Amino acid sequence: MPDDSKQTRSAQPQKISRPRLDFQEHLADLEAEGLLVRVDRPINKDTELHPLVRWQFLGGIPEEKRRAFLFTNVVDARGRRYDMPVAVGALASSRQIYAIGMGKAVEEIGPTWMHAIANPIAPVAVSSPACQQVVVTGDALRAPGGGLARLPVPISTPGFDAAPYLTATLCVTRDPENGIQNMGTYRAGLKATDRLGVRMVARVGGAGGYLHWLKYRSRKAPMPIAIVIGCAPVVFFTGPQKLAIDQDELMVAGGLAGEPIRRTKCVTVDLDVPADAEIVIEGVIDTAVLEPEAPFGESNGYVALEAYNMPMQVTAITHKRSPVFTSIISQVTPSESSLVKKVAYEPLFLAHLRDALGIRNVRRVVMHEPLSNLRPVMFVQFARDTPRTEVWRGLHGAATLRPECGKIVIAVSEDIDPANTDAVFWSLAYRSTPAEDVHIAPYRRGVQGSQYGPQNSESTLLIDATQKYPMAPLALPTREHMERARAIWEELGLPALAARAPWHGYTLGDWTDTWERYARRATAGDWEESGKETIARRRSDVTPETPVRKVEKLD
Ligand SMILES: Cc1cc2nc3c(=O)[nH]c(=O)nc-3n(C[C@H](O)[C@H](O)[C@H](O)COP(=O)(O)O)c2cc1C
Repeated sequence: MPDDSKQTRSAQPQKISRPRLDFQEHLADLEAEGLLVRVDRPINKDTELHPLVRWQFLGGIPEEKRRAFLFTNVVDARGRRYDMPVAVGALASSRQIYAIGMGKAVEEIGPTWMHAIANPIAPVAVSSPACQQVVVTGDALRAPGGGLARLPVPISTPGFDAAPYLTATLCVTRDPENGIQNMGTYRAGLKATDRLGVRMVARVGGAGGYLHWLKYRSRKAPMPIAIVIGCAPVVFFTGPQKLAIDQDELMVAGGLAGEPIRRTKCVTVDLDVPADAEIVIEGVIDTAVLEPEAPFGESNGYVALEAYNMPMQVTAITHKRSPVFTSIISQVTPSESSLVKKVAYEPLFLAHLRDALGIRNVRRVVMHEPLSNLRPVMFVQFARDTPRTEVWRGLHGAATLRPECGKIVIAVSEDIDPANTDAVFWSLAYRSTPAEDVHIAPYRRGVQGSQYGPQNSESTLLIDATQKYPMAPLALPTREHMERARAIWEELGLPALAARAPWHGYTLGDWTDTWERYARRATAGDWEESGKETIARRRSDVTPETPVRKVEKLD
């Protein structure tokens, strides 16, 4: 069986055993690990900042070489200088960076999520919080160049976006009926020094904040909202995660941290926010009106066109004395936004198939990341010899857990690495028969982005590309020979290898002791011994290419 995990999993945090509960301490950890690039030259936040970081996702740089960026000399299109530095890619440019944020090894990310969701820890209230060392309210929010204009908010997709956008957000709202808070990562575009346009997905399975908005609107009441920018990574990671409705993200963040998150009351609205956040924008959404918002580059790889969304009137901006502004890079995948979702969603799907549906043979669930952005295309990996009925339960389970995920689901066997699409196509080519192994189910809600086309109903494509019977070995030298050769390769100083599975041969069930004996003799230089055996097995009653096992019983 190929073991590609060593090829794709990156190094683990060396010294960090607990997650940092302060964003700037997290940045210091990244810097100490050589994972943060400081840019001290002037960078224009409106035209240069995101395009620069974008190159590390477009430029053929392997994931483990991606870095966080800290811009310390930010200017804008009008030449204004900002005293706040801007961090981009500091949360999830790579699994290694995410793992440092979690204070865990890369392999522990999935289990840590499942444990935290099952074992939340209630936050603890504090007064005089760091996030309120500076409080801006009233006229200071409306003064020219004041309010939101004081924040170095970058433009994500210069040339298409209608405004600078807050992207690394935790949008906090409270259910007016049961008082439970929700925190979701939603984009918010600048409209005025004291006004934002917030977009909460309104489709089934969309934003928790949208469900709250519906309740405030039916009461004809405004909705209080607080937007947190920059906080402990474990707190931020709960924003994009798909938690159950009414599961308080601050409690799950406590579960991730292994200790209560310090929270505090907002200054102008009745909401609780992480006390150690860098910046908090407080305000209210008038639920009686909507305002055009976007265009803005979306994570499905297309520009979201202008639509009516929620206007937020800012009532206060609070922040640390010396805050760092955070932005997340999204749009075309792979991106920081897709990685932050991938490592969080895949464990949920695996737990659903394995624990809720009881499909014991499922090994991994992998969401396809480059360009397609996780949700539409998924792979489910099964142990060899999984009954076909279980494979199909797994396919249906993955396609139905969430309305927006699993438009195309492909089942593969354990030896196929779903992260290697070439290997998936290899499996489709040799292990599936379209007439038997493909099923199309009608009627599903469109995945994100389909609202921009004329079609509003989608369907599901399920494919069983698992190995269904014993097959001949994979025709590469066996592992011992490839490893020995790799050592010689490195000894010769040849170019560094970046192998992807499969990189050595292995058996797939159809192999006999006789052929094993011949192969061993061959590598020992004793092939003539095998020739002596086959001369004794000659026959004249067969045609060329007759399989030996048709006429002879092999051991
Ligand atoms: C960078 C980034 C931007 C996002 N933008 C939005 C958005 O504008 N609106 C939205 O509803 N979801 C957005 N999402 C997805 C949500 O964060 C995700 O669906 C999450 O589960 C929402 O939490 P909730 O279920 O508590 O609302 C974004 C995710 C990321 C990582």
